[in-house]
Amino acid sequence: MSAENLHVGVIGATGAVGVELINVMFDRNFPVGELTLFASERSAGKTVETKYGTKTVTLFSVEDAKKCDIVFLAVSGDFAKEYAPQIAEGALVIDNSSAFRLNDDVPLIVPEINGDLAKKAKLIANPNCTTAIAAVALWPLHQAFGLKKVFVSTYQAASGAGQPGMNELREGLASGLKGEEIKAEVFAHPLAFNVIPHIDTFQDNGYTREEMKVTWETRKIFGAPDLPVSCTAVRIPTERTHSESIVVETEKAVTPQEARDVLAKAKGVKLVDNPEKLEYPMPINATRQYDVEVGRIRTNLIFGDHGLELFVAGDQLLKGAALNAVQIAEASIA
Ligand SMILES: NC(=O)c1ccc[n+]([C@@H]2O[C@H](COP(=O)([O-])OP(=O)(O)OC[C@H]3O[C@@H](n4cnc5c(N)ncnc54)[C@H](OP(=O)(O)O)[C@@H]3O)[C@@H](O)[C@H]2O)c1
Repeated sequence: MSAENLHVGVIGATGAVGVELINVMFDRNFPVGELTLFASERSAGKTVETKYGTKTVTLFSVEDAKKCDIVFLAVSGDFAKEYAPQIAEGALVIDNSSAFRLNDDVPLIVPEINGDLAKKAKLIANPNCTTAIAAVALWPLHQAFGLKKVFVSTYQAASGAGQPGMNELREGLASGLKGEEIKAEVFAHPLAFNVIPHIDTFQDNGYTREEMKVTWETRKIFGAPDLPVSCTAVRIPTERTHSESIVVETEKAVTPQEARDVLAKAKGVKLVDNPEKLEYPMPINATRQYDVEVGRIRTNLIFGDHGLELFVAGDQLLKGAALNAVQIAEASIA
């Protein structure tokens, strides 16, 4: 594919991920020759302000999407299952949903780790947001010290549930401050002034699907099918950027300083680890940043010199979705 003047389609262009896809392409000077913004009949015909100017939203059709060179899909998994293979007959499809992530013939890509896979495919899966953010921090540690076990606990923002999730949090906060009832339609319970240890559906093993995605997808991205990874995923009342507390047991002995030295050089990572200056990863700082912040690095009390604790914060609409997707597109034309 020529790297110039590409016809790019964004399906789901009015959603939380779609809006960021447009911003990231513009900010990274992605070679967009023509941009078509697709959505459902709810938004078709409306105009939206973008960094590329005022654009009219087009009603999605497979025929029109197939005419693009690259199509970013930012709709549901069911939508992707139905339409991605058809669109991929004409365009390179980069899908943000979970529909194809575990298919053997579909690469699941975090460009810092396995970007080389982007050149061969017609359909590429973008990983789960929590997984992508953790992977950027864990991969350099895996290469340097070998990961033996990984335990993740997450603190996930409302926008992980898209624009409706953000709206419900804002409305809930306003209602709560007025002493009114806080409604819960997007989330299983009121999110404002609460934390909810439940994201996606419960599985037979007691984990949620969001938690199992971290296990399944990390193994696939790392090419480590037996890596023990366990996660507890929790929704918290922040608007944007997921944080994660991560404990690892390592094959080789490791000191916090050795881990910091590795992470300081790692692509996509910003080391923020000066507790004495009150500097550590936080959503308020990591929001709208491309890099994933990593800090609070210390020797884990249980695994001793073969274990680490760390805290990460990454903008899940960027590295967990739009940025990673555009990086995949960049890798595909490099
Ligand atoms: N939010 C995150 O942090 C995040 C991170 C990683 C991956 N993802 C995944 O990315 C995808 C999009 O998530 P989101 O958070 O951006 O959701 P969202 O804010 O709810 O946006 C959904 C988008 O899909 C469009 N859409 C819905 N039905 C459609 C149809 N039949 N035809 C065409 N467009 C349709 C909507 O357009 P209308 O304006 O017409 O309704 C809207 O633009 C999901 O698969 C999600 O799991 C999300």
